This record gives sequence, structure tokens and C-alpha cells, in this order.
Amino acid sequence: MYILGIETSCDETAASVIKADPKSGRLLVLSNIISSQIEIHKKYGGVVPEVAAREHVLNIVPVVQEALETAKIKAKQLDLLAVTKGPGLITSLITGVETVRSLAFAWEKPIMEINHIEGHIYANFINSSNQIKFPAIILTVSGGHTTLLNMDKNKKIKILGETRDDAAGEAYDKGAKMLGLGYPGGPIISQYVAEYQKTLISKAKKPNEPLNFPRPMLNSDNLDFSFSGLKTSLLYQLKKDPTWKKRIPEYCYEFQQAIIDILISKTLKAAKKYGAKTVMLSGGVSANTELRKQMASTVKKNLKNVNFCVPAKEYTTDNAAMIAAAAFFKLKSKKPSSFSQLRVDSSLQLK
Ligand code: KG4
Ligand code: ZN
Repeated sequence: MYILGIETSCDETAASVIKADPKSGRLLVLSNIISSQIEIHKKYGGVVPEVAAREHVLNIVPVVQEALETAKIKAKQLDLLAVTKGPGLITSLITGVETVRSLAFAWEKPIMEINHIEGHIYANFINSSNQIKFPAIILTVSGGHTTLLNMDKNKKIKILGETRDDAAGEAYDKGAKMLGLGYPGGPIISQYVAEYQKTLISKAKKPNEPLNFPRPMLNSDNLDFSFSGLKTSLLYQLKKDPTWKKRIPEYCYEFQQAIIDILISKTLKAAKKYGAKTVMLSGGVSANTELRKQMASTVKKNLKNVNFCVPAKEYTTDNAAMIAAAAFFKLKSKKPSSFSQLRVDSSLQLK
């Protein structure tokens, strides 16, 4: 079967066609088109909802057209349309949802509405569905979410813990802003980290005044997270340090390591508590090379016979292939709906 996925929850207009085999559960991404607005929002230091909405309106039809053309699939061959229904920016979500309503009406196709977080989780199923054993512990880390989840063999998802304040991606974005590095913060900070690691290796260089970032809630007996204290700590250390502009790679390195330590420690705790057979990462922050590397080695070292999965990098940040993939796997437990039933729900939560 062929599924067209559409994603417009934030600042990426995305469409993808996947080919899926219901018998084997195998799927193939035929196209994954993403029109990113990063260059536009960069100058404001973050996403401006109204600007994002206008861009989605301009981009959505060409992006869908390109997804179909790249996949070499005609509209009449599609079996299902999938769309992100929420959570996200309501003014952004509307474009994707209304486009899918119109296409479903015009093409007479059923619709599968997808929760954005579920989409991120199913990004793991694109390349590694046969390695995923249950129960699986999933860490979803994006610009809006830091959530630990448990998925059982029926693919039922339960939230185990969440951030009480900022999301991990938000910590990266706000930290980068304080360091004057631009938006989005995650990729920029990780580049500086790589640079710093090279100097550490080549010159065996150690800082004179070591930086000291807290790891909030690291030892709390729940599976929740908190990142706002880390952000405040960065602010105070920058204020105290007149030399900080010369130490940016080092600040990035220590700041990122604090985030990674918190994420790894809580994921490990959840995996042990729930007897996980798989540990998975998902969401934009899971593009981070160090997080991927350190989580993989922690799982290998501390958890016997537990698989570690992470989406291919192109499926970590917002994309529509993950939405189409989620729709395919949800077909087993959920009936598609018609265009008249589909509504945006910006506050949608995982149940
Ligand atoms: O999943 P996503 O594309 O959008 C949301 O659903 O929020 O995630 C975007 C977030 C941003 O906060 C961005 O800074 C972060 O993912 N991010 C990264 C990296 N690439 C993107 N964080 C750390 N390292 C990266 N390489
Ligand atoms: Zn996302």
C-alpha cells in the first residue's frame, strides 16, 4: 500500500510517500520532502507563528507535488492520507490538516490522524522495526517535549515521565541564544562540541577554571526532568566570566554534557524499572551525535540483551515519513476517518 504523509506542526512543511507491506510490516520511504523555514526564523531567534503559518500556505502544494513526483506515484494509487493533527502551533497545523481534508475529499481517500509525538516514535520503525522488542522504553526529545514512554507489545504507549519546565531542545535553543550562537541551538552547539573535542585530543588542553553545570533531578526517585536550572546556571556563569567569549566551545561542551547526563540517567532508570527489551530515542535532539553515541554505549554496558534503536538522522527532526509510518502501524488498532471528521488539536496529548 501507498501512504502520503503530511506534517506542518511547527516550521517545517513536509510531505512523504511510503510504500508499505501489511504482511511483512516492511516499509520503504519513496520520498521525504522537507521545506525548512529555519533561514527565515533565524533572524528572530526562534519560530514566529504567524510567519510560519504564511510560509506553510505557500509551500504545502509544491511540497506535496514534489513528494508524489519523486516517489513516481499518482494520487489515484494512494491508499491512505496521514497528517499531524497535534500537538503543535495551531496556525501551522491548520495548513496540513486543511490540505489533507481537501485532498481526501477530492481524491476520495481515508485519513489517519497522527499525534506528532507518536510520529517521532515511529521514525524508529522506518529502518529498525524488526529490532524493536517489547516492552520498549522511548525517550522523545524535541524542541517542545522531553518525555519517557513505555510501549507494550500491542504498541500501547504510556507516559512514564516528562519535563517539568523546559524541553531538552528548548534548553539547547535557549543556551545557544545566551551564547549568541543563533537558532536552532542544537546543531550549532553540537558543532562547537565537536570542535572542542578535537582541541582536547590534539592539545590535551584542560580549562583553567572548570565550568560547573548542575544536573537537576538526576537523583530524584521519579522519571521526570527539569532543565530550567541548567539554563539559569549558564546565565550566572556567563555573568561571572569576563572571558566567556573566548571559551564558547568549552561552554557548549559542558552544557551539552549536563543535558546528556540527565537524559541518559533517567532513560537507564526507566529501562531497568520496566524491564525494557529495547531502548529507543526519538525527536529532533536525537540527531545529536554525542547523545546517540553515549546512550548506545550506556545501554550496551548496563543492560543485558537490550536493543538500542535510533532513527536515521533524516527522520529525527520534523519530517512526514515518520507520520506516514505511524499511520501504517496504527492501521492495526485504529480505523481511518473521513475528511469530515478531521480537526486540528493543538493541545493533543498522548493517552
Ligand atoms: O523534533 P523537532 O524537529 O521539532 C519539535 O517537534 O520540536 O526538534 C527540534 C529541536 C530543536 O530544539 C533543535 O535545537 C533540536 O531539536 N536539535 C538538536 C540537534 N538537531 C536539532 N539538538 C541537539 N543536537 C542536534 N544535532
Ligand atoms: Zn517534532
